[in-house]
Amino acid sequence: MTSKEVRKAFLDYFEKQGHRIVQSAPIVVKNDPTLMFTNAGMNQFKDYFLGNKAAKDTRVADTQKCLRVSGKHNDLEEVGVDTYHHTMFEMLGNWSFGDYFKEEAIAWAWELLTDVYKLDKDRLYVTVFEGDETDGTSPDTESEDFWKKHIAADRILRCDKKDNFWEMGDTGPCGSCSEIHMDLRPEAERAQTDGKDLVNADHPQVIELWNLVFMEFNRKADGSLENLPAKHVDTGMGLERVVRAIAMQNSNYDTDLFMDTIKTLEKLSGKSYGKEEQLDIAFRVIADHIRALSFCIADGQMPENTGAGYVVRRILRRAVRYGYSYLGFGKPFLCKLVDGLSAQFDGVFDELKSQKDFVTQVIEQEETSFLRTLFSGLDRLNTILSAGKEVDGNTAFELYDTFGFPIDLTQLIASENNLTVDMEGFEKALAEQKARSRADAAKETGDWQVLLSDEREEFIGYDYTSADIKITRYRTLKQKGKDKFQLVFNLTPFYAESGGQVGDTGVLIGAGNNEKIRVLDTQKENDLIVHVVDQLPENPSQPFAAHVDERKRENTQRNHSATHLLHAALKQVLGDHVAQKGSLVDPKKLRFDFSHFAKVEDEHLAEIEHIVNDKIHAGIDLDEKRNVPYDIAINSGVTALFGEKYGDVVRVITFGEDFSKELCGGTHVKNTSDIGRFKFTSETSVAAGVRRVEAITGEEADKYFAKKLDELAAVEELLGHPKDVVKHLESLLKENKDQAKQIESFVNAQKGQLKGNLVNAIESVNGVNALIQQVDIDSAASAKDVLFQLRNEVENLFAVLVAEINGKPSISIMIADDVVSDKGWNAGQLVREWAKEVKGGGGGQPFFAQAGGADPSGLGKVLEHAKAFVNG
Ligand code: SER
Repeated sequence: MTSKEVRKAFLDYFEKQGHRIVQSAPIVVKNDPTLMFTNAGMNQFKDYFLGNKAAKDTRVADTQKCLRVSGKHNDLEEVGVDTYHHTMFEMLGNWSFGDYFKEEAIAWAWELLTDVYKLDKDRLYVTVFEGDETDGTSPDTESEDFWKKHIAADRILRCDKKDNFWEMGDTGPCGSCSEIHMDLRPEAERAQTDGKDLVNADHPQVIELWNLVFMEFNRKADGSLENLPAKHVDTGMGLERVVRAIAMQNSNYDTDLFMDTIKTLEKLSGKSYGKEEQLDIAFRVIADHIRALSFCIADGQMPENTGAGYVVRRILRRAVRYGYSYLGFGKPFLCKLVDGLSAQFDGVFDELKSQKDFVTQVIEQEETSFLRTLFSGLDRLNTILSAGKEVDGNTAFELYDTFGFPIDLTQLIASENNLTVDMEGFEKALAEQKARSRADAAKETGDWQVLLSDEREEFIGYDYTSADIKITRYRTLKQKGKDKFQLVFNLTPFYAESGGQVGDTGVLIGAGNNEKIRVLDTQKENDLIVHVVDQLPENPSQPFAAHVDERKRENTQRNHSATHLLHAALKQVLGDHVAQKGSLVDPKKLRFDFSHFAKVEDEHLAEIEHIVNDKIHAGIDLDEKRNVPYDIAINSGVTALFGEKYGDVVRVITFGEDFSKELCGGTHVKNTSDIGRFKFTSETSVAAGVRRVEAITGEEADKYFAKKLDELAAVEELLGHPKDVVKHLESLLKENKDQAKQIESFVNAQKGQLKGNLVNAIESVNGVNALIQQVDIDSAASAKDVLFQLRNEVENLFAVLVAEINGKPSISIMIADDVVSDKGWNAGQLVREWAKEVKGGGGGQPFFAQAGGADPSGLGKVLEHAKAFVNG
């Protein structure tokens, strides 16, 4: 079966069992502070498990783009070294939200694997949870009994918490699990060792295929387990592994999911896969990483220096490094793999195909810049190695951290030069950096204290900015040493930060005691709206009047609505390739990142600004439609963003049917005229292929123009209120330029005259032509100029010119080359010594040197020294 057939068979099978097939969530996670990337199919359903939100469909299935590169579930440095772990992988999953449980999950998994995929039953093993005393959980005999209906009892293995209790993170939904493993070894090996003994033993041929998790608990911050409101099923099967298992292949990379890329790589590099282990690792690393890179970028995550963007950057660098070191790529090559990949996922994840050119160019530019870094890192390493010393730990770490050199590459190059690397020092520097970033990111939340358990939060902030509310739960939040609290309400007018719009702030006023609690921020955690306060109310159970800071909200929504107008105007002027890549909307400004490969010309910026202001002046009413079915919205030509997770029903914001129509959850002005005015403040580049514009509206734009007018009034005042300020300034500038030219010619004439006078003052002393004088001159540069002219005209010159220039002493010494070599005199040394007389310092070469200082009264002494020197 091809991978496409395997994927389809899974989804068809579960559709037949009453599951609704849903879209994969984006691979990059927004609105969940505990995750950067989707690392399991269940992430997008977390709120259903926790009971924060009711599931509309109780049975769903999908194929989910996942990424595991760090943290609980993977290690980037291992990927490609073995044949069955990946950065990005597809997780086929079926879910029950309070619907079926163990019996059906087990029966269907077995039927799909053995009847549909026709896996050899004789090679399958299953595991069940053995229970755990500390947690107070008992062995899963239920699952054991259900399995006995399908598989011989001696193929059912009991395993411990490490392998058979699945948890999303340190806290959150969890439960025991039952896994299906397959032994893919050749018969001869199977005859020697029983497959059963190799389950969960990291054997590359005896691998886990499917994990059936029975979600029953929530792990709390104190480590204890509490029962979830209902029991759920969460299953996950790696597509890459099951495709390989069906074909009985030795490696996930031997499947069509990777082989097309490997073949392209063979062509590009002229090297073959399957001949040499180190080369094979490079092929696998690249074939794996290009998928992660392409899908992260397509879902809107650019390579950056921090957070999720840094993970993308690290993945790209690892692939480039392997390509460079083992496959001989000294020029961008990853970008050449995107085309094939987008064809491969055609009809599955179309976001790649629609952004193929963009993704290709981003990767190409990032590769180019990393190759440059890599080459300078190599230069640096070669310099160290040519000194014949051990590479110290800090240098090895710098090469790793700044230049992207893995430590084994540094070691390899060092050993080729018969040198070693201080590994202890490297490990120490690495551990210090890890500790630093852990401390920066550390954020501890306590467990929720539930006050009202049956209330579900409702957002009413599109229609109201004040409301009477009740706190349904609260918890502590410790971040960067500060204690704060998070509150959840039964209903809230506060908009939680999302879609680029900052969270509302405001106050809560206690109905009973008038107590005032400031709301400092509003954040989303999945679908939960969390209000951040710095003080817990005395009586959290009393009702509160909640008030959003309206002025801040109004200024913010001016910028949000203006962003929509801007997005439409950008497309109109620059073209349809413009797609939003990032947005920030706060009360002061808007910032908008979009795909475009060149600087936006000034005249285009002016045109865009003009269109947006036109739309503002046209006074277009907001057309806001809530709960529009997603498909209907998309078919009506609405702008949707890549990498956003949309529900079945969406909110459509329209400003002019033919102009701006976007899927958006933000708050907006009622009419475009409320925006007031729109003004760009900057246009820059943020990443390869992504431009950034910033702009202001409303109050801020008014302030900006008022300031500019004040500046203009001041200029007019200074110029004496001319009729035409610009013309007047132009003529002043011209006058200024002409005068500067005149001054230059006067100075030159003066220098000529000075030179003449100086020639006359030369005296022959002890075989040199000595010139020792205080002169009147405009600058040290002029003194230098004159001395260089004299040097060409006068033989055996020994000249010391001192001057007071703008109140500061200046000393210049010129000695003819012959004198330097015959007598060994050195202008640099002399000037350093004599400059002490003027409280200064300087230096230069033996034939010419200059010094400045602080005290011109010492210049006479300098002349005396000079005379004594030449006479003596
Ligand atoms: N959440 C489980 C896993 O990731 C099953 O989907 O393995």
